[in-house]
Amino acid sequence: MMLVLGIESSCDETGVALVEAAGIAVPRLLSHALHSQIDMHQAYGGVVPELASRDHIRRVLPLATRVLADAGRRLPEVDVVAYTRGPGLAGALLVGAGVACALGAALGKPVLGVHHLEGHLLSPFLSADPPGFPFVALLVSGGHTQLMRVEGVGRYQLLGETIDDAAGEAFDKSAKLLGLGYPGGPALSRLAEQGDAQAFKLPRPLLHSGDLDFSFAGLKTAVLTQARKLGEGLPARKADLAASTEAAIVEVLLRKSLAALQETGLQRLVVAGGVGANRRLREQLDAACARLGVRVHYPELALCTDNGAMIAMAAAMRLAAGAQQASTDYAFDVKPR
Ligand code: KG4
Ligand code: ZN
Repeated sequence: MMLVLGIESSCDETGVALVEAAGIAVPRLLSHALHSQIDMHQAYGGVVPELASRDHIRRVLPLATRVLADAGRRLPEVDVVAYTRGPGLAGALLVGAGVACALGAALGKPVLGVHHLEGHLLSPFLSADPPGFPFVALLVSGGHTQLMRVEGVGRYQLLGETIDDAAGEAFDKSAKLLGLGYPGGPALSRLAEQGDAQAFKLPRPLLHSGDLDFSFAGLKTAVLTQARKLGEGLPARKADLAASTEAAIVEVLLRKSLAALQETGLQRLVVAGGVGANRRLREQLDAACARLGVRVHYPELALCTDNGAMIAMAAAMRLAAGAQQASTDYAFDVKPR
């Protein structure tokens, strides 16, 4: 048995979790806790890095205490302390890394830095119905949009990615243009439910590019152009424009995911990252994949966006697979990019 404490602090959520690994079985989530800073950053319309770091400092140890108590474990029982090494905000990452390494040094236990995206990628293994390898992964977060062929832990082949903005960024920037505040994705998606997705013709960049790359930068310009054209009439059409924007993003994600499945011949799709919480995306992927006989796996809704459970899980899976060893070199660094 191996008990892994995981800490996530790359952006605006402080997450801590405890995962137990035994042999080759999928590690088990014992407890997790999350503190979202969304309310704090909302007044500024986006994440303020300095405030984020300071809040992580305030939250991380109380969350760790809670997670241990919830699981009925004590700190000295922890075998490995994992943390998000990057990418993310440098100051925010340093909080998690610093706390993880301090705990490791004090306990005399090794530490492991985890790639944030690998956390998202493996987060569907936290669900009751975890995927089997190999699978195609659609990673859609605020900072990344990638399609990957995943053969096993640490065996990832990049099939395509965005050449400019990420899908989450497209949601967030369009939402900002529509005055929907931060974080934009969920807000835009909520408004879109009352709108007509066919109301506005928006571009589907690279839809027919023949490769698996994405481009979303042009979309926000198109949304801006539409919003300007509407002028005074914008408020009345906001829901329609939101729905049309969401439809454009979702269609590209859907088509390219299907193309990746066809290209690889794989029968399983894993969707991870914050945008994976999007309802329209889930509905359309589910429908298309059902027709093709492809299984789709998502993380639980609560574990789509940043959390500590995915970091503890990724660390436990890497260790169990022998892909990496935890280290007692506590001279940590972080990789913001
Ligand atoms: O994975 P995540 O929590 O953080 C990063 O690693 O970036 O993803 C955050 C992104 C944001 O851009 C947010 O607007 C988007 O995920 N997001 C959504 C939804 N929930 C979160 N986008 C569309 N629809 C949603 N329901
Ligand atoms: Zn993330």
